[in-house]
Amino acid sequence: MEKLSSKEIRNRFLKFFENNQHKIVTSSPLVLENHPSLLFVNSGMVQFTPYFLGEKDAVKDFGNKMLVDTQKCIRTNDLDIVGKSKYHHTFFEMLGSWGIGAYSKEKAVELAFNLLTNEEYGFGLDPGKFIPTVFAGSDEAPADEDTIKAWNNLGVKRVSRLPASENWWAPGGLTGVGPCGPCTEVLYDRGPTFGDEEETPGLTDNPRYLEIWNAGVFMQYNRPTVGGKLEKLKMLSVDTGAGLERITTLLQGVDSNYETDLFSPIIEKILSLSDLELNKEDENIKFGLQRSADHLKASCFIIVENVYPSNKDQGFVLRRMLRRVVDDFTWKLKINPIRITQIIPVIVDLYKIQFPEIDQQDLIKEVIETELRAYEKVVNNTRNYIKRTYVSKSREIENPFDVYQSTGSSKELIEDLAKEFNLKTDFSNFDARLKKHQELSKGSDQRFKGGLANTGVEETKLHTTTHLLHKALRDTLGEHVQQMGSNINPQRLRFDFSHNEKMTRDQIKKVEGIINEKIKQTLPVVRVEMSKSEAEKSGALHFFKDKYGDTVSIYFIGKDINSAYSKEFCGGPHVKNTSEIGKVRLVKEEGVGKGVRRIRAELN
Ligand code: ALA
Repeated sequence: MEKLSSKEIRNRFLKFFENNQHKIVTSSPLVLENHPSLLFVNSGMVQFTPYFLGEKDAVKDFGNKMLVDTQKCIRTNDLDIVGKSKYHHTFFEMLGSWGIGAYSKEKAVELAFNLLTNEEYGFGLDPGKFIPTVFAGSDEAPADEDTIKAWNNLGVKRVSRLPASENWWAPGGLTGVGPCGPCTEVLYDRGPTFGDEEETPGLTDNPRYLEIWNAGVFMQYNRPTVGGKLEKLKMLSVDTGAGLERITTLLQGVDSNYETDLFSPIIEKILSLSDLELNKEDENIKFGLQRSADHLKASCFIIVENVYPSNKDQGFVLRRMLRRVVDDFTWKLKINPIRITQIIPVIVDLYKIQFPEIDQQDLIKEVIETELRAYEKVVNNTRNYIKRTYVSKSREIENPFDVYQSTGSSKELIEDLAKEFNLKTDFSNFDARLKKHQELSKGSDQRFKGGLANTGVEETKLHTTTHLLHKALRDTLGEHVQQMGSNINPQRLRFDFSHNEKMTRDQIKKVEGIINEKIKQTLPVVRVEMSKSEAEKSGALHFFKDKYGDTVSIYFIGKDINSAYSKEFCGGPHVKNTSEIGKVRLVKEEGVGKGVRRIRAELN
């Protein structure tokens, strides 16, 4: 079969499902306004979630319960390997198809098999090379025998049973909330040239076996709360997803996604901007080329959704990517970053047929140029700081983390500038300090997830109140009380905790009384940092589902940590003294699930 272009591969996918009664729909935007917990859409199913749950009707909204599309996706969890790895990207397209209460697992497997193997309208792949993986069963759900049979009936015998960690799919990871179920993925055996000479059992991380399609997540269950119990859904839905970049790598017979026509025009253009003859095989240059191609592509798609570089959320991801491109151009590729904007037309040309919204060259150019100017200032500041502090005084940057904190630059930039000045750098401490720094800020994010974006005075008072409430509940009801969640807005706090019975009026009054008594005692609220084990020994409470690093931030309420009334793992912010809170009223107590109660409290 002739080599298919990525355009042709995308079209064949869409057409195949269209010819099998699916309707072609458009990709959702990357940033969904009604989904604030998700930074970027990261898989095709996101926009269809309410349909799997039966909350919305696909026929009413799309005119069909069988759908197909190619979804723009951004994943940021692999950010540190992007450019080094052959198959991970920030931006990628996910080809996806859906049967929403429309057909069986057998039918889904048959559709996947036909598209993958048919030479005329499909991908012409040899089914002898397929190794489908299926769910081996767990405490929560049985092994997916129907799907194993379905593959066997089509003559595919090398079916591999894998545990939930590999073959259970849910939107937020293994125990994530939402529609979920067992899945079947197709691995393609590329033979010994791509990995081990011998066939090895290490299927999922062996480069020989390329994972080309999650050919069916069988949405049979819903998990209503994080880590909660599965509920059976009324109907079975099928959700599939294949990265266009990977399948193109396989079908174009190349070794890496960067060698496909989804990347080569961008990389060639970057090469053409250099005044030097860049050696593509040099690892450092290759990394710079690949990362900047990836990050620029992702940046263009983000910018056209009117996200601009900033220090928060999507804007921060965009800023980080653009600054890395500048670093790559400057240090790895030795191209003046001013030329970066010349890549934009190549990216637009590559994608405008499928995603016409990308065709906003002026906007993209302006945003990138503005960020280039802002970053130039950071680079100059960092350069001057290093010059002032180290050059001529020392031959080494002894403490690069100080540079990082004083200038807002990055480890990579400090490394690059150190080379420019011929200074040695000792980064042995850097990662540990950065981790600690991030944990402290993460602590505060965690505490406020679900509500507190910009902390106002009222919110800070209510936050300290949650600590008092937590302890007062434990004193009144018993040590089994654990915080399950909290949410604060300027008007009130909401606090969820584990307890099996409705609280009595007397108990509510008692808790309220304790809180107001502690407020009257004008107790200081103090933050200390300590090792996690020390903190645990001190008896400080923590949010039991969260993970903490080696060093943690603790807030205690009292004169000193030993006699303190309340001690909790927390990133803040808090009032300085309980007297600032005023008076607290508990306004409601109710059940919100099995064994979970909720209290609302307000300030008087
Ligand atoms: N939603 C499934 C995935 O992302 C298809 O793998």
